[in-house]
Amino acid sequence: MPEYNSSRNAGGESHGKRTGKLLAVSDLHAGISDNQAIVAGIHPQFDDDWLLVAGDVGEISTDIERTLKLLANRFAKVVWAPGNHELWTVPKDPVQLRGEPRYRYLVERLRSLGVVTPEDPYPVWEGPDGPLTIAPLFVHYDYSFRTDPTLTKEESLARANDAGIVCTDEYMLDPTPYSSMDDWCRARVAYTEKRLAEVDPGVPLVLVNHYPLVPDPTHVLHYPEFAQWCGTQLTGDWHRRFSTAAVVYGHLHIPRTTWYDGVRFEEVSIGYPREWRARGLVRGTLREIFPDWEQR
Ligand SMILES: [Fe+2]
Ligand SMILES: [Fe+2]
Repeated sequence: MPEYNSSRNAGGESHGKRTGKLLAVSDLHAGISDNQAIVAGIHPQFDDDWLLVAGDVGEISTDIERTLKLLANRFAKVVWAPGNHELWTVPKDPVQLRGEPRYRYLVERLRSLGVVTPEDPYPVWEGPDGPLTIAPLFVHYDYSFRTDPTLTKEESLARANDAGIVCTDEYMLDPTPYSSMDDWCRARVAYTEKRLAEVDPGVPLVLVNHYPLVPDPTHVLHYPEFAQWCGTQLTGDWHRRFSTAAVVYGHLHIPRTTWYDGVRFEEVSIGYPREWRARGLVRGTLREIFPDWEQR
């Protein structure tokens, strides 16, 4: 087993070994007071640790900025992929932009803090098990993770409505200037596919997205109807098509590790207090993505 210091290390090298970890978290929901203590307790182990934040930092723009600024001041690099909650426009937010303009606003604000966004060049992790290209994605969802594929989108949404399962996005998330979330999703998929195709295939990718790129993780949802707000079939082969070392996602609030086609998928969410109190933070607050001890 390689040597790593258990305490915080001030340098990138320890006894000739590269140190630093690629850590991940999502769904901090930092606007909730009980979750703020969790955020306050997030620290790197090594000065050169990177942190991947896979969306749902919060809803209010000032909460999002404050949280990511705190983390950016602690970690060598913070990489962010937006969740649906960041894109909500809630009445008490001083920023009332909607849809794509809101996303662009957040990108500019977070860039100014040194946070890497889906609009920036993909950074390369040079730590243990590297190099790895870290790709934060924003591809959204298009209602295609339907429990019954024979239904149209409208029929599937109507069935979910009848069951009392309607994602709050339907009230808080405006796809402006696109005519629908589907259109916004397709535009994001086209943009992201082009960028991923330009990545050096000799350097494996870590894909960071709020939603799982494949539908399989949604099969364990307590409310199956919720799956249609959880991703798009358009990304279903990305972990095979592009050279992928791991996929990091959240949104489901079901933290676990699964494998699809030999690729490791890590759901790294914290979730709401009622959820993390019920299950306990049994995997810790941060998930270690690399170095990957399991493969040693
Ligand atoms: Fe969430
Ligand atoms: Fe979410």
